[in-house]
Amino acid sequence: MAFPIVGVLIASVILAWFIHQRKKKKHCKVDNLKEIPGPKGLPLIGNVLQLGKFPNDTFTKWSKEYGPIYKVRLGSHIAVIVSDPKLSKEIFTNDPAFAGRPHFDITNLYEENPRLGMFVSEGDLWEIHRNFLIRQLRTFGFGKSSMEALIMEDVNEVLNKLKKEEGKPIGNIRGMLRLAIVNALWTILSSQRFKHDDPKLGQLVHSIVKVFDDVFGGGTLLIFLPWLRHVFPEGSGYNAARRVLEGWKTFLEGTVKEHKEQFHEGNLKDFIDVYLAEVRKTTDKKSYFYGQLGERQLVSTMLDLFIAGSDTSATTLSWTLVYLCKFPHVQKKLQVEIESVTGNERQVSVDDRPMMPYAQALVDEILRYSSIVPDGAQHRATEEREFQGYRIPKDAWIQPNLYYIHHDPKIWGDPQNFRPERFLSENGKKYMKNENLQPFQIGRRICVGENLARDNIFLFMTNIFQKFEVRFDPKSKEPGLGTLMGFFRNPEDYS
Ligand code: HEM
Repeated sequence: MAFPIVGVLIASVILAWFIHQRKKKKHCKVDNLKEIPGPKGLPLIGNVLQLGKFPNDTFTKWSKEYGPIYKVRLGSHIAVIVSDPKLSKEIFTNDPAFAGRPHFDITNLYEENPRLGMFVSEGDLWEIHRNFLIRQLRTFGFGKSSMEALIMEDVNEVLNKLKKEEGKPIGNIRGMLRLAIVNALWTILSSQRFKHDDPKLGQLVHSIVKVFDDVFGGGTLLIFLPWLRHVFPEGSGYNAARRVLEGWKTFLEGTVKEHKEQFHEGNLKDFIDVYLAEVRKTTDKKSYFYGQLGERQLVSTMLDLFIAGSDTSATTLSWTLVYLCKFPHVQKKLQVEIESVTGNERQVSVDDRPMMPYAQALVDEILRYSSIVPDGAQHRATEEREFQGYRIPKDAWIQPNLYYIHHDPKIWGDPQNFRPERFLSENGKKYMKNENLQPFQIGRRICVGENLARDNIFLFMTNIFQKFEVRFDPKSKEPGLGTLMGFFRNPEDYS
């Protein structure tokens, strides 16, 4: 009797499997495509545990093993890793279906649909607001001399602080630079300036950086296993992140409220004002600028700019100091160029940049060598698609391995050497852009702050090294060139 029952069971299982495969095929709009290769994982969690303390090292190891496109399973998500600059350009530029963003509820300030802000929004809402943001940021100074004047106020505040400490060891440079960098951005957004020693600013900026490092830097599994927030809201770090976001929401909504109270149509002073003017004139209830939704979008975008714009540039500058102390001959070459252009009788300005090929090449080498966003920012495939003969499923994450792209010997020859000359012409007189350098990623969602970031790095770096020779404190431990765990590749603490 047992045999027929087992036989029926086996037959049913096989039948169910065939039906499942046929259904899968029916849903797969693109036929005859290869499956993307990748490492085997465990049921439910996939490859999460294999990522280890430094996920980028593991992604890099797999890039060598599986080639320029491979896939990993991170909990319930499939992530497609691209480790070739040409493929990265192609996938992020051509097809709008690869310009979505994964749904991370942890970053949702208002926990509502559609997701608001710049970083996590998608589709029409994202595109309309991105165009508006880029246009308005330009009006208020991005890439203009008025922006440079704002940045220089903070450069000078940092120079004064350094002058006071001249000859003594200084720690937490990244923290000092972070406050300086946030200010110019905050002035454009709100026409308010903070004093660098304002504890409120320090606390706010520190808190958001910590959330980012904890959540996205691998300190919690929330990104890969989002359901953990319901099971362990406290232990998973969800509640802590939420509390910080609520603090930010209160602060930003308060700033918007003040602007509404003082609003004057004939005097639009900053980004908040122009945005509020757009909300006021919008009568179409379906528009994303309409009423409360419009205001929430404004608050979410301001938070995104704060997060994306402060720690990125400060971390890059912090690496700048590490590299220029580690490689004093580079520091010297930079100083010689600064003196030849300014005579050291005036400060360096962005107008000097075309005459300073070494400084330009140095900024690119710093961005390459540090690769502070080693895995870029994930995109989401909003539809199933074909790419390079592979099937990319709907909702797959797509992320570039920027660290690998920036350290691939096939592209750079001697990537392990810190050598600004690789961005110079053979005679060393001309700065040469290199398409394989993609620190701001590339394509449809490329960083909106690239110009501001480049201005910040150039102005802080050149004006600090014009005034000072910088060395590590001989009494403290010298940092290595490796990174601490975090969302960004951060240098170790140093003095
Ligand atoms: C060294 C400094 C910086 C680096 C390395 C950097 C890097 C990046 C990267 C890799 C992305 C992801 C792009 C993508 O998804 O395709 C990004 C996006 C973004 N960045 Fe930056 N960034 C820097 C500075 C800034 C600054 C100063 C701002 C703003 C003032 C900013 C604002 C943004 C925004 C709003 C996005 C989201 C764009 C979108 O989703 O459409 N970033 N950045």
